[in-house]
Amino acid sequence: MSTAADGANDAQPRPSATAPVAARSDEPLVRAVNVMKSFGKHEVLKGIDLDVHPGEVVVLLGPSGSGKTTFLRCINQLETIDGGRIWVDGDLMGYADKGGQLHRLTDRKIAAQRREIGMVFQRFNLFPHMTALENVMEAPVQVKGVGKAEAKAEAERLLERVGLGDKTKHYPSQLSGGQQQRVAIARALAMQPKLMLFDEPTSALDPELVGEVLAVMKELAKDGMTMVVVTHEMSFARDVADRVVFMDAGVVVETGAPRDVINNPQHERTRSFLSRIRSEHEAIAALVDDELL
Ligand SMILES: Nc1ncnc2c1ncn2[C@@H]1O[C@H](COP(=O)(O)OP(=O)(O)OP(=O)(O)O)[C@@H](O)[C@H]1O
Ligand SMILES: [Mg+2]
Repeated sequence: MSTAADGANDAQPRPSATAPVAARSDEPLVRAVNVMKSFGKHEVLKGIDLDVHPGEVVVLLGPSGSGKTTFLRCINQLETIDGGRIWVDGDLMGYADKGGQLHRLTDRKIAAQRREIGMVFQRFNLFPHMTALENVMEAPVQVKGVGKAEAKAEAERLLERVGLGDKTKHYPSQLSGGQQQRVAIARALAMQPKLMLFDEPTSALDPELVGEVLAVMKELAKDGMTMVVVTHEMSFARDVADRVVFMDAGVVVETGAPRDVINNPQHERTRSFLSRIRSEHEAIAALVDDELL
């Protein structure tokens, strides 16, 4: 598999300006094999397979309840899996494989694995009593033991990069939703992750603020960050993703180049989901137009 074969983008595995993408470019950075997850009797993930190569941007689509968030949380070890395996950069997540027997890693080792992965949620979850700068510095200083001066310089650079160089001293309550989400992205980047997971990063935002967050994500993709993005923003999927994966009811229904999946879906479930998304978007666009009139 290659991004060229998937074809929608000019992007081949890209060199990283953010984090050293140490993985061998022919090996997937994320490899999920037959991932299963149940909550009680409810089987939420029924055997998900997904490879994400270094520098690749994969957009996950699917109806509410299809398991998108759960899958991201499994990659990031916020959930344990009941079956299958997930590797990130060659490391088996959550377990040591000793002669085919899986042994749960210690919390400390799991925390170390999780530090390699940045996650951005729908809600920004910034510390309200800290400025944008302090929010971005916090984890490098507290978790990685980076010196304050170095962490501050890096946080300033990252805030500049997400277009908030002039807002470093603002508290979250003094920032718009789009600005807060950009701080959240800078905060995740401050840990120099190998992989960024985004779970509907723009869905809590007013429509007019969506673009500024997507623009930052687009830049990140251009700089070579490996990203798995759950979003209903079809323009982002079309313009930025190397691959789109459509999930429904805990299985991958369809995967392919964005233009193929979005413009020419092969499965009825994908078609009906996309037409529903389109009508929702049109309704929102009409509302925004009304407000502007
Ligand atoms: N901690 C949990 N305990 C019990 N059930 C859960 C838990 N987390 C998720 N679920 C269930 O798993 C299913 C998949 O949820 P998930 O949040 O992964 O879906 P999703 O595709 O992200 O949906 P949405 O588009 O609404 O965010 C849902 O039926 C949900 O109720
Ligand atoms: Mg979700």
